[in-house]
Amino acid sequence: MALPLIPFNIPLTPEALNSFHAVKASQRRLGDLIHYYSDSIAAKESLKADNPLVYEVWEMENEAPGRCLSFGMTRVSPGKVGREYFFTRGHFHAGEDGDELYVILKGRGVLLLFSKDGHCETIDMLPDQICYVPGHMAHRVVNTDSKELVFFTVWPPRIVHDYATITKMGFPKLVLAGQNGPEAVDNPAFSIVPD
Ligand code: F6R
Ligand code: ZN
Repeated sequence: MALPLIPFNIPLTPEALNSFHAVKASQRRLGDLIHYYSDSIAAKESLKADNPLVYEVWEMENEAPGRCLSFGMTRVSPGKVGREYFFTRGHFHAGEDGDELYVILKGRGVLLLFSKDGHCETIDMLPDQICYVPGHMAHRVVNTDSKELVFFTVWPPRIVHDYATITKMGFPKLVLAGQNGPEAVDNPAFSIVPD
């Protein structure tokens, strides 16, 4: 898609983006994400009862030659599979040179990041904050709140989103509900897989 070179302003809401031309909307339900959760028994049990919406994404992938901004918005529902909070699949930006900015609009969560050498960071996501994602780090958003988490995103266009590496490696940390709130713990299933 291409963004016409005309100025515009729209409200910073999912509804406004949704009605904006050239924006692609997609939804991920628990059934689409079943293999991503650490507790596969809890995941299958939850699915028997319901197939809830885990997150929705609205993307304006600006592929016009010479243009350098794409943008979008993500809304992650509150919820858990076993003790693990709902999250986005997470991905690397292939090429590792496409940085990204997240602007948190609503809710609270945790941004999990890691680089291919296994270095991992967890960053809190709070309303009215921005989070910077360096281009070489995989990123996943976890909603640790009891309400929805909404954030606006800006990244360079023509980036290839690499989900396959996450499917192979997983993330180094899981974010689980603990006795004193959310806790990031080591993921026993994580392994570094060379390219
Ligand atoms: C784009 C980006 C976000 C995510 C969105 C959904 O580079 O990081 O717009 O694409 O939050 O997450 P994924 O793509 O991991 O399913
Ligand atoms: Zn990204």
